[in-house]
Amino acid sequence: MTTHRINLKINGSSEQVDVASNLTLLQMLREKLAMTGTKNGCMAGECGACTVMLNGEPVNSCMVLAVECDGAEVLTVEGLAKDGMLDPIQETIINQGGVQCGFCTPGILISARALLNRKPSPSESDIREALVGNLCRCTGYLRIVDAVKDAAARQHALVG
Ligand code: FES
Ligand code: FES
Repeated sequence: MTTHRINLKINGSSEQVDVASNLTLLQMLREKLAMTGTKNGCMAGECGACTVMLNGEPVNSCMVLAVECDGAEVLTVEGLAKDGMLDPIQETIINQGGVQCGFCTPGILISARALLNRKPSPSESDIREALVGNLCRCTGYLRIVDAVKDAAARQHALVG
């Protein structure tokens, strides 16, 4: 298997990684960089547990080859908190009880953050549409949706 050297930014840090042609972004994060916040659910693009942002867009990292990420910017759940402060969506998902087993949570947080970046005042249907690719077997989604609404309100309060 051919190996490629790629350069990319992950959570703001420059990384140089040697990756095999068939290594996925998910495998690179978890197995080469020990960034295990991003979860491996189905490896088939079905569950959303592996969601990360790639150049600002949420993607299933199990469906992206690492070599495709040369020169890219990746944001994982480990990069959401800044300067010791949780992202508003991290705080509200905890406060709303939107985390049970937690397996879906990193992917949901990234999808929600991407939505809030794109649309700071999302409607409930915007939120449900943004999370349609993130399966959660525990919560019934209601508390997660409420958490995204609360995070949007909190962002507005922070911005003034
Ligand atoms: S592990 Fe990637 S979509 Fe399920
Ligand atoms: S909290 Fe368990 S899968 Fe969502």
